[in-house]
Amino acid sequence: MVISEAVRERIEAAKARFPQPRGALLAALHLVQEELGHIPPEAEREVADLFGLRPVEVHEVVSFYNMFHSESGGRHRVYVCTNLPCSLRGARTLLRHLESHLGIRCGQTTPDGRITLGHEECLGACAYAPMMRVDRTYHEDLDPERAVRILDELE
Ligand code: FES
Repeated sequence: MVISEAVRERIEAAKARFPQPRGALLAALHLVQEELGHIPPEAEREVADLFGLRPVEVHEVVSFYNMFHSESGGRHRVYVCTNLPCSLRGARTLLRHLESHLGIRCGQTTPDGRITLGHEECLGACAYAPMMRVDRTYHEDLDPERAVRILDELE
């Protein structure tokens, strides 16, 4: 078992709050990812068992949402939005700046395991471009210097 008993209990509590237990699937996946750092196939199978679903149904959800990760990564996941509105406001320069600051390329993890850097399509905050998501927090109206400061403050 990769999902702890404590998380299983929280998942059961979440299921009880929905008329259809399946309504708690996203909450359950967040809990699993919080515990494991990502959602490996074994965890997908265990979540499927908890919800009476087929593993492929859980995998479809995990692979659909950018916020879920099947692969392990750094302690923090940083995603710069590089869709058009953000790109027009300097997102690509911002991403290159972060690559250079961290000494890694987009898609890689720092050697100390602190940060995985990536890019994403529109995160729905175009009015505040350019922006990046750090774990579950949005940082908006960025410039390269401020983005670097935000990363430097991460543990
Ligand atoms: S294009 Fe970046 S948030 Fe929409």
